[in-house]
Amino acid sequence: MAIFSDDENIQKPLAINKNTKNKNLETKETAFDKSFESNIRPKKLDEYIGQSALKNTLKISIEAAKKRNTPLDHLLFYGPPGLGKTTLASVIANELNANIKITSAPALERPRDIIGILMSLKNGDILFIDEIHRLNKVTEEILYPAMEDFFLDMTTGKAQTVKTLRVPLPKFTLIGATTKAGELSGPLRDRFGIIHRLQFYTTQELSQVVTRTAKILDISVDKEGAAIIASRSRGTPRIANRLVKRVADYAFVKSDGKVDAAVAQEALSALNIDSNGLDGTDKALLKLIIEKYDGGPVGLETLAAALGEDSKTIEDVYEPYLLQEGIIQRTPRGRKISPEGYRLMGYKLPTIQQSLF
Ligand SMILES: Nc1ncnc2c1ncn2[C@@H]1O[C@H](COP(=O)(O)OP(=O)(O)OP(=O)(O)O)[C@@H](O)[C@H]1O
Ligand SMILES: [Mg+2]
Repeated sequence: MAIFSDDENIQKPLAINKNTKNKNLETKETAFDKSFESNIRPKKLDEYIGQSALKNTLKISIEAAKKRNTPLDHLLFYGPPGLGKTTLASVIANELNANIKITSAPALERPRDIIGILMSLKNGDILFIDEIHRLNKVTEEILYPAMEDFFLDMTTGKAQTVKTLRVPLPKFTLIGATTKAGELSGPLRDRFGIIHRLQFYTTQELSQVVTRTAKILDISVDKEGAAIIASRSRGTPRIANRLVKRVADYAFVKSDGKVDAAVAQEALSALNIDSNGLDGTDKALLKLIIEKYDGGPVGLETLAAALGEDSKTIEDVYEPYLLQEGIIQRTPRGRKISPEGYRLMGYKLPTIQQSLF
């Protein structure tokens, strides 16, 4: 049965990253990173940086749930990888002093997987389902009455003698996370009380992430060094944390171990990460659209094939940040580079494009 009591055991399907060549941008956890991750992961809401609108909503809901002694409404978090969805689920469990069971949709293959988990829950427990857009129909249908009325509808017997039993369940809170909210079915989405999109972090927020992580890891990073790392982290705490570690390694080998602006700059250039946080794959993608497809529009699959990348990786990992920064645009006919994209890549905007923008 697929029950996991902690994050280390989560069954992460490899689909998204299996073709990701550029490790600077790798956004899923690797075995090497796990102890590092669990050390630096915020445990309480006050340590969780940024996402202030969401935190305010959560603080009130958590307090109300505690005062009323009722479970928290089911929550759905969505947004690009590495923005803190899983972290937030465990922060909420800590704030509620609740147990959390962590699984992911691809691990819930058979009805008995989800039934086993639901039956093992206790009042007030949190069930976290990662990649919830990948639930199969049968599992989803088992979840509907469980989420809505805390019941399991079980059938016994065969053909004419079939009977439906309503088995009561403990009052639990389901937290779902997904990078693809659009792929969630309407009935499932409607059963969540709070649905929230996590935002990319500002450079200032990421500086706080960098400083916090450096402190936990006993790495010396000054304010300017932190700001440089933050500004190149694509609005993503997971990337900020990874860069802290890489820059610290660089400083350890090349200088006295202290990270200031100059060391951060040098280390990040050595990692081929430019001042906008764009790395080798981003730049290859942008260059391809500009040089081979006259700035686009060009279809995602065509781009993926030309880059030798998985189209899902481009869509889920690279594109969200490029779209958010207005570097590329998504049109019905494919991806197109923006004037900002031309500028960042050091290309002149073609005259035909100038008249269009
Ligand atoms: N608000 C935050 N404050 C400080 N650190 C954070 C915050 N959010 C995330 N992090 C750090 O970034 C790492 C990545 O976060 P997390 O694993 O929760 O992302 P995710 O949204 O679940 O990503 P995925 O979609 O890939 O599952 C965490 O291990 C944590 O250390
Ligand atoms: Mg996660």
